[in-house]
Amino acid sequence: MPARTEAASPAGEVAERAAADTPPCHVAIIMDGNGRWAAAHGLPRVAGHRAGAQAVRRTVETAIRHGVSWITLYAFSSENWRRPAGEVLDLTGLLRHYLRNEVRELKGEGVRLRFIGDRDRFEPDIVADLAHAEADTAGNSRLNLTLALSYGGRAEIAAAARTAARAALQGRLDPETIDEASFSGLLSTAAMPDPDLIIRTSGEQRLSNFLLWQSAYAELLFLDVLWPDFGPAHFAEAMAEYARRERRFGARPA
Ligand code: IPE
Ligand code: IPE
Ligand code: MG
Repeated sequence: MPARTEAASPAGEVAERAAADTPPCHVAIIMDGNGRWAAAHGLPRVAGHRAGAQAVRRTVETAIRHGVSWITLYAFSSENWRRPAGEVLDLTGLLRHYLRNEVRELKGEGVRLRFIGDRDRFEPDIVADLAHAEADTAGNSRLNLTLALSYGGRAEIAAAARTAARAALQGRLDPETIDEASFSGLLSTAAMPDPDLIIRTSGEQRLSNFLLWQSAYAELLFLDVLWPDFGPAHFAEAMAEYARRERRFGARPA
C-alpha cells in the first residue's frame, strides 16, 4: 500500500480528513467462501449459500448506513455453470427465492435493483422475475444494488466488441470514433460509475473474471473472512482501509 502523504498545512489537514471521511461511491464485492464456511460447520454446501444470502441482506443495510450509493455483488460467475448440476440447481433455487421474498423489502428501503450478466441462461421464470425487480425498483435512488449473475468480464467485453463491430458493418459507427468512454457505454455497466473499492472475502486474491474493464483503478481489498461471516464490522473495516488509501490514477503524488 502506498504511504499516505501527510498534509503540510492545517488547512490541508482538514481537507485531507474530509477526503478520508468520504465513503467510496461504489463498492463491489466478490462474495466468496460459502462452501468453506459450510464445510467448517459440518454442513452441506447449500447451507453455506443460504447463509451467504443472509450476509447479502446485512451488507445492503450496512452499505446504506455508511452512505455508499452503489454496491455490486458478484453472486454467480459465467464459470460457475461448471459446478455440479445439483449445486447449480441449489444456487438458482436460492436466487428464485431471494427475488420472490426480498424485492418488496428492498423496494421499501429505497433500493434500486439492477442485474448484469447473461440472464438468458436462467430459467424463463427467473428471467421474468429479474425484469420485474428492475422495473419495480426503477424509481428508487437511495442505494443502487447490482447483482452480477452469470457474469463474466471477458464475455461482457467481447459482447461490447460485437455490438461495435455490428454497428460499424452497418455503417452506423465510425471505428475511428471508438474511445474509452464510448466503449464503456456498450458494457452492461454503462449506467454505473466504476467501482472505487473491490472487496473479496475468503482470502483468495484474484478477480475471477469480475469487472475486468471497470476495475482499472479500483482499490482492491482481500479479507480473511468467509462470506457468510461478513458483517457490519468487516464493512466498517473496509471503509476505514479505503480511507487510508491514496488514489493517484497515474498522476504524480500530491
Ligand atoms: C461463493 O462461495 C459463492 C459462489 C461462487 C456461487 P463458493 O461456493 O465459491 O465457496 P468456496 O470458495 O467453495 O468456499
Ligand atoms: C468467484 O468465486 C465468483 C463468485 C463469488 C460469484 P469462485 O469461487 O467461483 O472463484 P474461483 O473459482 O475460486 O476463482
Ligand atoms: Mg469460491
